[in-house]
Amino acid sequence: MGGMRLVVTSDIHIDKNGQETLDALAQFVEKAKADVLVVAGDVATSPTTFLHTLLTLRAVAAEVVVVAGNHDVWSPPQLVASGQNAWWRLDTLLPALCAEAGVHDLDAAPWRHGEVEFVGTLGWYDLSMRDESLPATEQDYRAGEFAGMKWMDHVYAVFPGVDGTRMSIEAVAGRLSARLRAQLAASTAPRIVGVTHMVAFPEQLHHKPFPGWRFAQAFIGHRALGEAMLADPRVELAIAGHTHMRSDLQLGTLRAVCAPLGYRSEWRGLTPTEAVAASVRVIDL
Ligand SMILES: [Fe+2]
Ligand SMILES: [Fe+2]
Repeated sequence: MGGMRLVVTSDIHIDKNGQETLDALAQFVEKAKADVLVVAGDVATSPTTFLHTLLTLRAVAAEVVVVAGNHDVWSPPQLVASGQNAWWRLDTLLPALCAEAGVHDLDAAPWRHGEVEFVGTLGWYDLSMRDESLPATEQDYRAGEFAGMKWMDHVYAVFPGVDGTRMSIEAVAGRLSARLRAQLAASTAPRIVGVTHMVAFPEQLHHKPFPGWRFAQAFIGHRALGEAMLADPRVELAIAGHTHMRSDLQLGTLRAVCAPLGYRSEWRGLTPTEAVAASVRVIDL
């Protein structure tokens, strides 16, 4: 079959980066003539902005594939109390918004396009990529606070279990990696592209000496996501976000790409158009 042009981005954070950034991204996608635009999470915490962003991108790409990011499932405590917790956001609100925008939400269902199946999930982190040399305690990881940094998912991403109490990060990560494995197992496609928000391979982490940064590594990825994709030789491309650090690695037969836009404050003075050009990847399958 003919080639398929993917345009890959993530961490576009439109509610922080603004309309000008969305316009720059839409312009890039339109010029690239994307067959499939892949957005690997962190679109916008505001549901209105999430929908507006996807409608805008849907208008310039033939197809759009999305997984949610952690920021897309955040709710303030008063909404969590009324049932609008992270599971509700992930499995009820966001699929409805994606359907309204005409885009494919992989947490709701995998999506096959020709011979390629797109599978994926938000995923979650456990502590499997934590920096073992850091003197942070188990309690520090549970609290999400160390060396002056506070991990805000511990406040705003509330995943309740059946008894109503908060699930551990390992339990959330386990449930979502099981979702990815089930999609892989059910797929009959000869070629697979895996999309996760959370980082799937430790090789995708970037190391910096600051204790707060080293602590945060624990909340970036989940090794089981990568292991599931490496175990299936049909997976030729794995796309992740969440880390705001770009990478493009070959791991055996699998190409692993992170193409995050990140926050304006991380752009080192680039304009939105320049930041989009520097981060977005065009991949011809
Ligand atoms: Fe992000
Ligand atoms: Fe994220």
